[in-house]
Amino acid sequence: MAGTGALVYVVDDDASAREGVARLIRSAGFVAKTFESGEEFLAIPRPRVPSCLVLDVNLPGLSGLDLQEKLAQSPPPVPIVFLTGQGDIPMTVRAVKAGAANFLTKPVDDEALLGAIRNCVDSWFGDEVRSDQSVGNMVGESPALQDIVRDIQVVAPTDAAVLIQGETGTGKELVARAIHELSGRRQRPFIMVNCAAIPGTLLESELFGHERGAFTGALAQKLGRFELAHQGTLFLDEIGEIPLELQPKLLRALQEQDFERLGGNRTTHVDVRIIAATNRNLRQMVNEGKFRGDLYYRLNVFPLTVPPLRERREDIPLLIRFFTQRYARKMNRAIEEIPAAALDALTRYSWPGNIRELQNLVERSVILSPGRVLQVTVPDAIPDSGNVRWLPPASRDESPERERILDALRLSGGIIGGADGAAARLGLRRTTLQSRMKKLGITRQFH
Ligand SMILES: Nc1ncnc2c1ncn2[C@@H]1O[C@H](COP(=O)(O)OP(=O)(O)OP(=O)(O)O)[C@@H](O)[C@H]1O
Ligand SMILES: [Mg+2]
Repeated sequence: MAGTGALVYVVDDDASAREGVARLIRSAGFVAKTFESGEEFLAIPRPRVPSCLVLDVNLPGLSGLDLQEKLAQSPPPVPIVFLTGQGDIPMTVRAVKAGAANFLTKPVDDEALLGAIRNCVDSWFGDEVRSDQSVGNMVGESPALQDIVRDIQVVAPTDAAVLIQGETGTGKELVARAIHELSGRRQRPFIMVNCAAIPGTLLESELFGHERGAFTGALAQKLGRFELAHQGTLFLDEIGEIPLELQPKLLRALQEQDFERLGGNRTTHVDVRIIAATNRNLRQMVNEGKFRGDLYYRLNVFPLTVPPLRERREDIPLLIRFFTQRYARKMNRAIEEIPAAALDALTRYSWPGNIRELQNLVERSVILSPGRVLQVTVPDAIPDSGNVRWLPPASRDESPERERILDALRLSGGIIGGADGAAARLGLRRTTLQSRMKKLGITRQFH
């Protein structure tokens, strides 16, 4: 079915009606998200435009029609399926005049509702990629991603240093760019330095520049990235790789916004906002003496952790649809359908390479799909849940704690983090649970 995995929003003040519609939507393979009022719907940060909105016309406060009007003011249009009560004919007439196409009268016939939703979703699937309207082009509806979006919106307008941590391919660079775009510096440069890609010896001159003749081969004066980023944002990527010897100079540049070019003695002053990113555990590096503590604290004014994809599985179908649409458009393919079984298997896959891995897989799949159905090969790797069994440790002391942990892991299907993960069930932090599991010798086995 073409619309599998699409996102459908439901706004209805009647809790049982709302949940009933959401259940129906989920049973058809869509992702449902519910709201009690139009105000609540407008208040949430929406990282991407919904593909369909099921809207009760009769809402307290902002009515369904008011909401329709508000949404119409900021294109692109959201397809709406209206639910009306028996006595709502005048409302219906108004809504039709305002351009609404789909009406269903409560109590709603399930098949009719699903049919209307499918129409909306299918039309979305063929449309332009609309996410350009959203925060930093970030696709995803999971609570974890919404937290990130909220943090971005909070920190962007300040000049605070941000430290973005997260596994490879989780979207750290995207987050850094979004912060810059939402800041007062957006008209000024966003300059990036990948500390892992530049050899340590050259990094100093890359960052701070050099004067002519500063070292053999320095034939002309060169501006460093700090100077290039003046009044803008400097993104220090892979900050964990910066050599220890260079760290004091970097610290001073961050604290005083002052430095000297290599081979020069004139102090240069800049106004730069710093965002750093790393997939290493910097705190641990500090403990091990591999990273300076003072620099760490200076960078870590506002920490932001981007969770791995396996801890926000709700986002997987949305991302697959998003990238399918993007690559199909780019390669001029008319792909209309993603097989539900493939989507299901991909949602359970562990994605060690996170979103970059998913993106590459979809690109490859689109290349290999000549017809209207996306041909996906599900990666032949360890699934994170499903066929997972939790091994008791070698020495079997039946401590109640281990039993509790094993139970929670069974209930969560082996997932540790995230809203439904074992850590949340036990009321523990993910890292705490992981270290307890290690201590208790709980490991997992795949078969
Ligand atoms: N929420 C998202 N929605 C859409 N695309 C995303 C999202 N998050 C990441 N991407 C895409 O995934 C790819 C990897 O993201 P990015 O380069 O920002 O990751 P990273 O954390 O910096 O990875 P690395 O640690 O390997 O440098 C990029 O092409 C990015 O555009
Ligand atoms: Mg990166």
